[in-house]
Amino acid sequence: MKLVFGVFGDPIGHSLSPAMHNAAFSTLGMDCVYHAFRVRPENLEKAILGAEAMGFGGLNLTVPLKETAVKLACIKPDPLAKKIGAINTVVFGTSGEITGYNTDGLGAKQALLDAAVEIGGSKIVIAGAGGAARAIAFQLATDGADITIINRTVERAIELARDISDATCPEKIRGNGLSGLKSLLKEADVLVNTTALGMHPNIDTTIATAEEMHPDLTVFDIVYNPLETKLLREAKEAGAKTVSGILMLVYQGAEAFRLWTGIEPPVELMKKTVFEALQA
Ligand code: ATR
Repeated sequence: MKLVFGVFGDPIGHSLSPAMHNAAFSTLGMDCVYHAFRVRPENLEKAILGAEAMGFGGLNLTVPLKETAVKLACIKPDPLAKKIGAINTVVFGTSGEITGYNTDGLGAKQALLDAAVEIGGSKIVIAGAGGAARAIAFQLATDGADITIINRTVERAIELARDISDATCPEKIRGNGLSGLKSLLKEADVLVNTTALGMHPNIDTTIATAEEMHPDLTVFDIVYNPLETKLLREAKEAGAKTVSGILMLVYQGAEAFRLWTGIEPPVELMKKTVFEALQA
């Protein structure tokens, strides 16, 4: 009998995770299948317990369920997921325990490592203070980056910076409004965009323009629809290095795959699958 894996979310129709994981299972010859399930927040606990009862191999959680999951009695978040306050990967243990992890930050970290960014000591500007920014900022702060979070609503940036400072190194993390972006970028090594700017259908919007960037900057946009955002085009024009959000998607999935199976996933195939699905 096939071992079933899944992603829960709402909406969930456009998820690229089934294609990515099914390609991995298939090429490894594993008798497993990965489905997307529409689950509303109020049904999340029942759905997770149901999946556990039916012997699922593991789950991913996506919008709007990641933050709901940490509050559930049935899941024990691991320390990083607890700090982040969100779970994107659920692992069913052999003795009935259910553990929640957050692999989003690791996914972002791996995408930056691919671009030869030395995270420890790097000056990183993170635009946005939502759930994605939280996962990325906690991870990069843990790895010793010097981080400034900038956000339209400055209070959210300051609050996130304070949460991270409490858990890591206070003098290296700060929050700011968007108006500080230009001067911050002059000194920055990396810009990470976690805002919705540039995302379909608002493809002509960007958090920064070429004039504000420099050739030694690495620009990472977690938006991957469209594949090349306006921010990445502006970065190229400035001679900066660019990192696609697709990599974060693939690497968070690869880490989930490792947690569920203990097997090394075919990461290059997963990248190719996701890339082709987006171009189709
Ligand atoms: P996610 O969980 O995907 O990070 P989110 O929690 O909705 O999503 O956060 C979206 C982020 O994009 C927020 O930082 C938001 O800024 P506010 O906190 O001020 O709302 C930012 N954002 C969304 N639209 C924006 C816009 N037009 N200009 C600037 N920032 C924007």
